[in-house]
Amino acid sequence: MSEFNDTLKTKVSECEGLINSFLPKEEGYQKKVIEAMNYSIMAGGKRLRPMLMLEFYRLLGGRDEKVIAPFMAAMEMIHTYSLVHDDLPAMDNDEYRRGRKTTHIVYGPGMATLAGDGLLNYAFETALKAYPYCKNLPELDDEIEDRFVYALHILSSKAGIYGMVGGQCADIECEGRQDITSHELLFIHENKTGALIEASMMIGAVLSGADKEKLSMIEKIGSNVGIAFQIQDDILDVEGDESVIGKPVGSDEKNEKVTYVTLHGMEASKQEVKRLSKEAESLLEKVGEDNKFLSELIEYLISRNK
Ligand code: IPE
Ligand code: IPE
Ligand code: MG
Ligand code: MG
Ligand code: MG
Repeated sequence: MSEFNDTLKTKVSECEGLINSFLPKEEGYQKKVIEAMNYSIMAGGKRLRPMLMLEFYRLLGGRDEKVIAPFMAAMEMIHTYSLVHDDLPAMDNDEYRRGRKTTHIVYGPGMATLAGDGLLNYAFETALKAYPYCKNLPELDDEIEDRFVYALHILSSKAGIYGMVGGQCADIECEGRQDITSHELLFIHENKTGALIEASMMIGAVLSGADKEKLSMIEKIGSNVGIAFQIQDDILDVEGDESVIGKPVGSDEKNEKVTYVTLHGMEASKQEVKRLSKEAESLLEKVGEDNKFLSELIEYLISRNK
């Protein structure tokens, strides 16, 4: 496991290097909002989504960093925007994130709202930088000729009302309600968290040249990992250590959220994380052979303490 930890550290720095190279310069009359954007994105974090994107790209034969790096940065920008808005007083109202004060505490709610908007738009400006390097990718099938456009479609749709935003909508609407069904909770998890994780894996695969069959297997892996990831997040919200997770414990209780833990109990939650992850690992074996790091990464997510 310690070899895995070393590899993980190296891969996090690799992802951060690539992300940082796309961040906007803090200058002009819009300097403040750019500072707030960079404050949020450079605060650290596990960089799980860009890492998954890069690993799936490589697993399936992708070799040109110029193709994938702009999408990795774009994904981390969208994920970071979702966190900045999620922490706002009007949403979860939390003061710590990634081990430091949240963006709205430092820059005020107005600027934090704009920083989120800025990150979302800049994500697409950034992803477009991959265009010149994507011209020779093979057609996906008769319907989808252009893999670059398809990757943009995945990025935009999984982040929007049929993905993350849709999940956050249901999450907020369910606050304080005690009659939530497992079906509703699954919708929340699949969308608020699963969608961006699925998109990360799928974009890596699409740009590497993978076929439709592999793509749908990868979407399922992403969905399982995403749901398991959110259940683990809910577990850590109850029994995590604030100084390790870098955000408040007890946020869900404060906001009267129904989570997998409140609905099914702690033990069943831990079992479900394991079950979903095992299923994802066995699907991964069918997707590509050189998958040692990815399968250890999924294993690590089950037992993560941050
Ligand atoms: C936090 O995501 C929000 C959830 C979807 C649970 P991460 O746990 O990946 O946050 P960072 O990027 O490491 O800060
Ligand atoms: C948020 O879920 C998922 C997002 C889309 C941001 P949570 O509200 O549980 O995430 P944390 O615990 O604040 O990171
Ligand atoms: Mg939330
Ligand atoms: Mg939150
Ligand atoms: Mg949480």
